[in-house]
Amino acid sequence: MRPAGETDSTDGVVPTRRLLVSGNWKMHLTHLQAITLVQGLAMHLGARDERVEVGIHPAFTSLRAVQVFLEGDDIPLVLGAQNVSSEHEGAFTGEVSTSMLAALGVRYVIVGHSERRRLFGETDEIVNEKIHAVQAAGMTPICCVGDSLEDHERGATDDVVVGQVTAALQEVAADAVAGMVIAYEPLWAIGTGHSAAPGDAEAVCATIRGAVAGLFDERVSQSLRVQYGGSVEPENAAAFFAQPDVDGALVGGASLDAARFAAIVAAGSK
Ligand code: 13P
Repeated sequence: MRPAGETDSTDGVVPTRRLLVSGNWKMHLTHLQAITLVQGLAMHLGARDERVEVGIHPAFTSLRAVQVFLEGDDIPLVLGAQNVSSEHEGAFTGEVSTSMLAALGVRYVIVGHSERRRLFGETDEIVNEKIHAVQAAGMTPICCVGDSLEDHERGATDDVVVGQVTAALQEVAADAVAGMVIAYEPLWAIGTGHSAAPGDAEAVCATIRGAVAGLFDERVSQSLRVQYGGSVEPENAAAFFAQPDVDGALVGGASLDAARFAAIVAAGSK
C-alpha cells in the first residue's frame, strides 16, 4: 500500500487512491451458485479494510439475488455489472439499461471489456456512449483497454492503449473522469496464466495516467484509479499492488474461488 497523503510537485496533496479489487465472474454461475460464492467470500474476506474496496460483477441473472444477500447480511462487497446498454429504454431486445442496474444497487459497470470488443463488435464509439450512460445514471464505469499480442510484439502497446483511452473519454466531464476507473488488461494476459510483469503493467498504467493528465489535468489524472487485469492470482497480486500507478486489479478466473479471491484482496491490505 502507498502511504496516505503523498505530495507532488505540481498540485500539492495528491488524493489517496483506494485500491479497488474487482471480480469479473464473466458468463459463469447460476444465481444459486453465485450466492454460494458470496457466502464463501463472506467467510474468507474477514474484517473490513478501509484501504481496499472489493467489487463483484456477477452475470445479470444473478444481480438481484446477490444484491439481496449482500444487503441482508451487511457484507462489505460492492455490486458491479459486466456490461450495459448505452440506450436509455425502448425496443432493444435482450439489452439491459443503466436504470435497471442502478435500481439493483449496482455501483460499478465494466465497459469495453476486450471480450466485448473482440467477440461482440464493441467499438471505441460504443464504449464512449456507454461511459456517458453509466455516469448519467450515477454509477461508475470501469473502462477496459488493452493491447493484443500483435500490438505488444510490434511495440505498439502505448499507442493502442492511449488511443482507446482518448476515444473512451470524449466529451466526458473532468469530474466524472476523476471518479472513474480504467482497467489495463493486455489481451495476451487474460485467462492465459501469463500475467504482464508488474513493472511493465506499472509502465502502461503510468502512461494511461499521463494521457489523462494531458487530456484533462494533473488533479483528474491523480484521482482516477487504474487497475491491472490479466492472470492476477494470489501469488502475484502483491507485486501489482506495490506499483505506484496500479490502483487495484480486475480479476477473472481467480475471482470464482472464494479463498483465492480473498487472498488477492488480502494482498492489498498489507
Ligand atoms: P483472468 O484473471 O482470468 O486472466 O481474466 C482477466 C479479466 O478478463 C478480467 O476482466
